[in-house]
Amino acid sequence: MPRHVAIIMDGNGRWARARGLPRIAGHRQGAEAVRRTVVSGLELGIEYLTIFAFSSENWKRPEREIDDLMGLLRLYLRAEIGELSRQGVRVRFIGDRNRLSRDIRSLIDEAERTTDANQAITLTIALNYGSRQEIVRAVRRLARDVATGALVPEDVDEAMFGRYLDTSEMPDPDLLIRTSGEQRLSNFLLWQSAYTELVYLPTLWPDFEKADLENAVVAFQRRERRYGASSG
Ligand code: IPE
Ligand code: IPE
Ligand code: MG
Repeated sequence: MPRHVAIIMDGNGRWARARGLPRIAGHRQGAEAVRRTVVSGLELGIEYLTIFAFSSENWKRPEREIDDLMGLLRLYLRAEIGELSRQGVRVRFIGDRNRLSRDIRSLIDEAERTTDANQAITLTIALNYGSRQEIVRAVRRLARDVATGALVPEDVDEAMFGRYLDTSEMPDPDLLIRTSGEQRLSNFLLWQSAYTELVYLPTLWPDFEKADLENAVVAFQRRERRYGASSG
């Protein structure tokens, strides 16, 4: 079983368009798929589930859609945290919180606080997340530590650099799934995915079911991870 599964949840808009519905209808069904997927992850015994909810580039979308997405996020956090907590889900967030509205920041803080002791699965929600921005923020803090003398440049290695990233508390993803048939990372976990197995599924995110997760896991289990070594 992969310890850490990351998902680029894509295809909400196309799901809605195929039904003649507004994009928000796709995002709403996408939130349902998140609910299902957390349960599936728990049932499969996945330890870390990381989902891409809103990228740092998604601010380019029309204001109306951004408002809808943030509204949905508020609703999800208010309605689901209790249930997630009962299920033993530890909720974490990665991404730059500074651009998020004050009330969403406090919902995030509260979600992290109230679920902090849970151990069944860690659900990490990537929100206003972009991997390049994350790396630049890490470099900035690292440079500051060198400037103050807390660190000498010779101390910097991969493990130490990793501790400056938003993902410092989790292992790298073993399996990364992208739905909707797109085959790109769109600025998600670039550093962390150096040796992650990538699985692209044609399924649109609102249609994502436990069977899709299981299929992706089976595909993962058939792969031979070599990390640069010879095949054996
Ligand atoms: C994924 O669905 C959700 C977010 C990026 C917030 P999209 O909204 O990107 O759906 P498509 O790609 O337009 O179908
Ligand atoms: C990636 O999907 C971001 C999320 C799933 C939140 P996009 O739909 O924004 O990515 P591009 O624009 O197709 O690369
Ligand atoms: Mg998309």
